[in-house]
Amino acid sequence: MNAHNLSPLTVFEPWPAHVKDVWGRQPTVVRHNLHRSALLSMEALAELIDAYPRSHYSLINMGARGERRFWKEGDIAGMKGADVIAWIAAGRMWLNLRRVDEVDGRYGDLLRAAYDEIARNAPGEAMDNVSMGILISSPGAQVYYHCDLPGQALWQVHGKKKILIYPNTAPFLEPWMLEDIAVLGVEVDMPYHDWFDAYAQSFDLEGGDMAHWPLNAPHRVENYDVLNVSITSEHWSRSIARKHHVNMGNGLLRRRYGWTARSRSISGPSYFAKAALQKLSHKSTWLTSQRSAKRAVEFRLDPAIRGGVLPIDPAAS
Ligand SMILES: [Fe+2]
Repeated sequence: MNAHNLSPLTVFEPWPAHVKDVWGRQPTVVRHNLHRSALLSMEALAELIDAYPRSHYSLINMGARGERRFWKEGDIAGMKGADVIAWIAAGRMWLNLRRVDEVDGRYGDLLRAAYDEIARNAPGEAMDNVSMGILISSPGAQVYYHCDLPGQALWQVHGKKKILIYPNTAPFLEPWMLEDIAVLGVEVDMPYHDWFDAYAQSFDLEGGDMAHWPLNAPHRVENYDVLNVSITSEHWSRSIARKHHVNMGNGLLRRRYGWTARSRSISGPSYFAKAALQKLSHKSTWLTSQRSAKRAVEFRLDPAIRGGVLPIDPAAS
């Protein structure tokens, strides 16, 4: 246990007094200190990758610049963490280390310290099931327009990126999108038009910036021309969980029974009926059949060429 990695690190700079009034209601950026934590130095990240379980990372190749919505899943193929980072810096990839808080307890301690400070800075509904991932991504990498079901924050650690955050209302976000994400368990292709950007709030994030936005607000991210390291964190609360039950319930009613429910209430008889329906669905073979199969691993890092990848024939593995 390397508690000295956290202490005396205070996660946040003092927040301006007004931030608590807009927290979760408006896209907001505050300053943090996690980029100074020894746990998030490039050396520490390289060591983390060295021992990272295969089940908990995704390596994605994005194809050439300008190619839209192309991606393939890959494998580090035994390469050392420091080399993996060098390959990402030279390539067109991102590495998502999922559930870092579970994989290595030191990061879990850091995450809990961070969320305790958030709760003190912006008191509100209790947050639970907090989790984090670390995203290491190539210069110029993009995350396309999408939304997420839990509460979310993006913490910039190294490098620089731009995040655009859109209103969580129609036409940017419609109930069917949340319902499909809940039922299918994956991100759906949300309709996006360039003109949406005129209604977005855009922030440049550098090491020490943390962005938080209203629940489900669609967003997209563009890296500047530099290697990026970011933390994504997620939380749930009683009301977020209930909204998820409604999304699941309404999604099941529409997709399985062809009935479009109008209510999105998170209390009263319609809520409890949907909560019961979504609970029943956990054992449903229909639901399993709707959820897409695990993506095949289609490439591995090419040890001979920095930034390069080699194809793997999924049928051969
Ligand atoms: Fe997201």
